[in-house]
Amino acid sequence: MTIHPEDLLSAEERLKRLHERLGGIAYGGDYNPEQWPREVWLEDARLMQQAGVNLVTLAVFSWSRLEITDGVFDFGWLDDVMDLMHAHGIGVDLATPDAVPPAWLVEQHPDIMPERADGSIFGFGSRQHFDVSHPVYRAKSLALTEKMGERYAQHPALRMWHVGNEYGPTSYGPWAEKAFRTWLQRKYASLDELNQAWSTTVWGQHYTDWNQVRVPAQPRTWSNPSRRLDFHRFTSDSMLEHFKAERDILRRHSPDLPIVTNFMRFYKTNDYWAWAAEEDAAALDIYPDPREADAHVSAALNFDLMRSLRQGQPWMVMEQATGAVSQWSVNVSKLPGKMRLGSYQAIAQGADSILFFQWRQAKGGTERYHSAMVNHAGPNTRIFREVCELGQELKSLGGLTGTRSTAKVAIVFDWDCWWALELGNSPRSDLNYAQEVLRFYRPLFEANVTVDFVNANSDLSPYSLVIMPASYLLTDESAARFGKYVSDGGRLVVSYLSGVVDEDNTIRLGGYPGALRNVLGAWSEEMHPLAGEDEQVKLSTPDGGTSAASYWTEHLHAGTAEVLASYASGRLAGVPAVTRNAFGQGTALYLSARLDDDLHRLLLSEELHAAGVVPELDVPAGVQVRRRAGTKADGTARSFLLVLNHNDAPVQVDVHDGGTDLLSDRPVQGTVEVEANGVLILEEKVASWHWDWTRLRRQSSGRSRTRSAATSLEAGSWRSNGIGACTHC
Ligand code: GAL
Repeated sequence: MTIHPEDLLSAEERLKRLHERLGGIAYGGDYNPEQWPREVWLEDARLMQQAGVNLVTLAVFSWSRLEITDGVFDFGWLDDVMDLMHAHGIGVDLATPDAVPPAWLVEQHPDIMPERADGSIFGFGSRQHFDVSHPVYRAKSLALTEKMGERYAQHPALRMWHVGNEYGPTSYGPWAEKAFRTWLQRKYASLDELNQAWSTTVWGQHYTDWNQVRVPAQPRTWSNPSRRLDFHRFTSDSMLEHFKAERDILRRHSPDLPIVTNFMRFYKTNDYWAWAAEEDAAALDIYPDPREADAHVSAALNFDLMRSLRQGQPWMVMEQATGAVSQWSVNVSKLPGKMRLGSYQAIAQGADSILFFQWRQAKGGTERYHSAMVNHAGPNTRIFREVCELGQELKSLGGLTGTRSTAKVAIVFDWDCWWALELGNSPRSDLNYAQEVLRFYRPLFEANVTVDFVNANSDLSPYSLVIMPASYLLTDESAARFGKYVSDGGRLVVSYLSGVVDEDNTIRLGGYPGALRNVLGAWSEEMHPLAGEDEQVKLSTPDGGTSAASYWTEHLHAGTAEVLASYASGRLAGVPAVTRNAFGQGTALYLSARLDDDLHRLLLSEELHAAGVVPELDVPAGVQVRRRAGTKADGTARSFLLVLNHNDAPVQVDVHDGGTDLLSDRPVQGTVEVEANGVLILEEKVASWHWDWTRLRRQSSGRSRTRSAATSLEAGSWRSNGIGACTHC
């Protein structure tokens, strides 16, 4: 069958159809029936109905049960499971099982196993054991994909495809090496160009023949950072190429069905911007550690990243746990209500699917202690009761599917920056990029400001404020784009270690942050990381306020920029630390140090204030509020307000005009109580207006503010208050 691109549905239309066929939000999880006797399958189907499950992911790890030995297939059991699911009204997200090449294949081709940088080879007996560049691995997994496409594309239970599982293994083996060389030959017009880009004159690494170019295997001492950056890019691209090859096969068989793979939280190996662009939806596996009281904050960051990867399109929770996982030293179970709250948090942040790993807890194998929708003890448990309750509740929330959130603030999150920053041989090899991003995300999350993530190539025009935490690597084009954003009237906040290197990971000369010197109106002549864990330097403001910085400082020169704070102790005493520059119609703030929390929050508050950004709703601390809006099929507007209480005690929230509480189907307005770890999901009255940001701004402004991070938005000018005078931030 030939597919003409113009006949293909858009990703958004495929998702819309998926949810129409599922009857709303997707609910279910990974189902591994091959681990159980057939009589259990029937009980599973019945219990799934009881739990409100409408989607299960099948065959993720089933290669050895589908291709018993080379070219000998057994699809009979999978046919039966697909039929059983259909008979019970349950849809299937069918996986290609390429994460687990079977033992017979590894026996035939031991070099399928990925090789570590030190040349040692992984052993069989786990999963993700493949070098994605191995030609036989590729051919065999594509052949199986073709067979699955042929066999199941028309099956009435099939709702979507799930390619592979958590792509990630990096290999330094011979097949990866060959593919790396080809990748480089595509990227660089000549070997001279590569020599130039990799600065091979340093340490005498000049190449005279392409065959000399190898993967960056375990070096004698330190290895070339430009080469290692390219190897990161190659690793992500080579896995993506394989994903695309499987996707294209499945697309040919099922042009209208969504095709995704599952992402991991804070996962450095794959550039998820590039990956998400090739999928119908971003899909996340999320396992917050219940031992961390604020695990929901880093979960929120990952949720907003997923929402942003496809520019606000609804995304999927592809996996989460009902209770404990089995991957940490102590695997604590989620407290009652937390699984429900985490699920609604994902929905509030744009997810239209709530799926778990897995349906039935395994009896054997590595993850036998990982909780499931049906645990070892069976259905007569708290967890299964919570699973059923959530499944029932979600049925009343179908109207949320397809709706989106709007943000006026963006944070830059970029894999090139991540890779380049964490390669070592830098002034600070302990820098954790994700934590740097979290440091800027957290105050905005606490202030209930909806944040989008963007990368260096994104359209910045929707945003009043753009934040660049350690945006270390910038191309000339992206630097120009950020500059234009400011000169057109945007507000930019830039932290240390931004714009330092170009796309080859070589330093931009003339003072840091090279790519942004112009827009920041300031430059640093030397980086001064602070050595001691607790080492601090004092800061002072022109009007006598005091604060502190730690971890990182710079010898900064303010050119055209105004100095907002200076170093007041240590070797940089008297040197500017924080500057703000007027550039065209906009402004650019530079933080050359890791500021003390109070000042960090205060400066962000002031930026939000100046950018006219307000919280979704003014609420007590620990309460998260998000809004999702869109239109019904008839074009009328809908808006939903989701209020999540992450506190272990009830809170009072003023929802003003309110709306219909979808979980109780009752009208709600004014001050309402949200129970501990509870949620409120309101469909707002929107009959007389069309949802837009101006309206939301009007709605949120000028109202009494209760104690919350929102109060920090009232900070106004921190200089006029004096840093020390701020007691509420
Ligand atoms: C995911 C993986 C699942 C399961 C789960 C629980 O990373 O995709 O197969 O292992 O973790 O640990």
